[in-house]
Amino acid sequence: MKKENIYILGIESSCDDTSAAILCNDQILSNIVADQKIHTEYGGVVPELASRAHQQNIVPVVHQAIEKAGISKEQLSAVAFTRGPGLMGSLLVGTSFAKSLAYGLDIPLIDVNHMQAHILAHFIDEKDHKKPPFPFLAMTISGGHTQIVKVTNHFKMEVLGETIDDAVGEAYDKSGKVLGLGYPAGPEIDRRAQLGDPKAYQFTKPKVDGLNFSFSGLKTAILYFVQREVKANPNFVEENLNDICASIQYTIIGILMDKLKLAVKQTGIKHIAIGGGVSANSGIRKALKDAEQKFGWTTYIPKFEYTTDNAAMIAIVGYLKYLENDFSDFDVMATARLKI
Ligand code: KG4
Ligand code: ZN
Repeated sequence: MKKENIYILGIESSCDDTSAAILCNDQILSNIVADQKIHTEYGGVVPELASRAHQQNIVPVVHQAIEKAGISKEQLSAVAFTRGPGLMGSLLVGTSFAKSLAYGLDIPLIDVNHMQAHILAHFIDEKDHKKPPFPFLAMTISGGHTQIVKVTNHFKMEVLGETIDDAVGEAYDKSGKVLGLGYPAGPEIDRRAQLGDPKAYQFTKPKVDGLNFSFSGLKTAILYFVQREVKANPNFVEENLNDICASIQYTIIGILMDKLKLAVKQTGIKHIAIGGGVSANSGIRKALKDAEQKFGWTTYIPKFEYTTDNAAMIAIVGYLKYLENDFSDFDVMATARLKI
């Protein structure tokens, strides 16, 4: 007997991207993302502007996702949405919308943890993407998060370490600000890093015990370094930008790889999956490929569109929870500091 298809609408609104996706079982039919250009003027996400933009975007984005998927909303099996962690005003838009739609259509509502979703994005069925076997280690690296998580099954996850201050993407963006680069600066630093000398300048790595991270000291070290050098040569940054970017990237990748190596040593797990916007970084991708050769790791990097914030990753968690009949009550609340 042919199994009935399950159609999940996923909604993501935790930060500055409004996204909706439709999944048929574990395959993506559509994944629409409206990013919010408004924040570039401010050099970072402005929460109040983000939530207003979500309000404007949510209806057209959901509409587009359904239209592109070629289904009608009456075919939906459930609505999954990001409950947290994230910006409260932004989460509220997705949460309220998801509740109303699920209620109106009389279908189940499924709340999703954004950090779990970054990890479970690896289970979207994609040609040429192998799914990590359990148990595996996941490193989530983005503008808002830096975590190493031990994943025992789809829903049993343990955070082994996380940042105690800035996220790794923030380290990129804040260093970029010091260098006069636009926001977000990660992609530009990455591009220039490939043209520069990674050992031109040395920045000390933070000393943080165990598997936790710290990036705020690095940002301050870069600020003082630039201020000092510019005093001696006002054109220092322009003349050495590629080398500075390469040195920053070398330091950051070193910090991430040191912690991953420690996590592998502590757990004995050599399957490593990454997620989050910083997984686009050429330095981390290369370091992980090298680690396959050097240390016998197997590494998993999702397709780019599923690394940054997107609703496809919310929908896949929705699908996996649907299979378990794990539904939410309609009084579920958006939770800004939701833990894994
Ligand atoms: O996952 P994401 O789109 O949003 C969240 O923060 O949740 O990640 C955005 C972050 C920004 O900090 C951006 O600078 C960084 O990812 N990023 C990169 C690269 N592409 C994006 N950082 C380093 N290298 C890149 N190629
Ligand atoms: Zn995220």
